[in-house]
Amino acid sequence: MSILDKHVIFEKNTSLLFLGSLIVVTIGGIVEIAPLFYLENTIEKVEGMRPYSPLELAGRNIYIREGCYVCHSQMIRPFRDEVERYGHYSLAAESMYDHPFQWGSKRTGPDLARVGDRYSNEWHVQHLMEPRDVVPESIMPSYSYLKETPLEITDISMDLKANRTVGVPYTDEMIENAKADLAAQSDPNADTSALLERYPKAKVGNFDGDPTRLTEMDALVSYLQMLGTLVDFSTYDDATGYR
Ligand code: HEC
Repeated sequence: MSILDKHVIFEKNTSLLFLGSLIVVTIGGIVEIAPLFYLENTIEKVEGMRPYSPLELAGRNIYIREGCYVCHSQMIRPFRDEVERYGHYSLAAESMYDHPFQWGSKRTGPDLARVGDRYSNEWHVQHLMEPRDVVPESIMPSYSYLKETPLEITDISMDLKANRTVGVPYTDEMIENAKADLAAQSDPNADTSALLERYPKAKVGNFDGDPTRLTEMDALVSYLQMLGTLVDFSTYDDATGYR
C-alpha cells in the first residue's frame, strides 16, 4: 500500500479527517506559542519607557471613559506613508504599561501615538472645547465639560496599585506619593524635582489654562502631551530606512 492509499482512510471518513486536522493544528500551535512562555521577555526593552505619572494615568482613564479610542488609534504601522505622517512606527515596548492597550481598530481621526509635543496645551484645550474652532472641517465631538469637571483624585493610589497587580512596576514610593505627584505636576509653582525623578520627562505646569483648579482637562492634556515622547528616537531613526 502506498502512502496515498493510506490517506484514503481520512478522505472517506470525516470524523477521522477532523481529528487528524485537529492534531496537526495543535502541534503547529504549540510549536509557535510554547516558546513564548519560556522567553524571559517577548518585548524588546527600550530606553525611556516608564510607568505613567499619576496625572497622566488619570488622563488616560478619561481618554478611555470618553471613548477616544473609538475614533483614534495609537499604533503607527511600519509603512512609509504612516511613518512619514506620524513619525517612527510604534514599538511593542511603547504600550507595555497600557492595561488595556489603546491601539484602537479604526481611524476616524488621526493616530495619536506621537501627538505629544506636536501642539501647545492651549491648542489642545481649544480643540477639545470646540474642535471646529481650530480645524473648521472637523467632525470630532466637543468635550468642553472636561474643563468644568474637577478631577476626582481620591482613588489615584489605588489605581497605581491596580496597575502594579497587572505588572506595571510602580514602587511603594510612587504609590505613597501618588496624590502629591499628581498635584505637583499640575501646579506651576510646585517643587517638581521628586516628581521628575520618579517620572522623567513628565510635562509639568498648568495644562487647562486655569491654574486655580484641577480639572479633567488638565489630566487629559497632560496625557496627550506625553504620548510618544518617552522614547528618544533620535538614536533609532536611521534604522527605519525612511528618514
Ligand atoms: C467621532 C470621532 C472622534 C472622537 C470620538 C474623538 N475624536 Fe479626536 N479627532 C477626530 C477627527 C475627525 C479629527 C481630525 C480633525 C480635527 O483635528 O479635529 C480628530 C483630531 C484629534 C486630535 C488632533 C490630532 C492631530 O494630530 O492633529 C487630537 C489630539 C484628538 N482628536 C484627541 C481626541 C481625544 C482626546 C478624544 C476623546 C476625548 C477624541 N479625540 C475623540 C475624531 C474624533
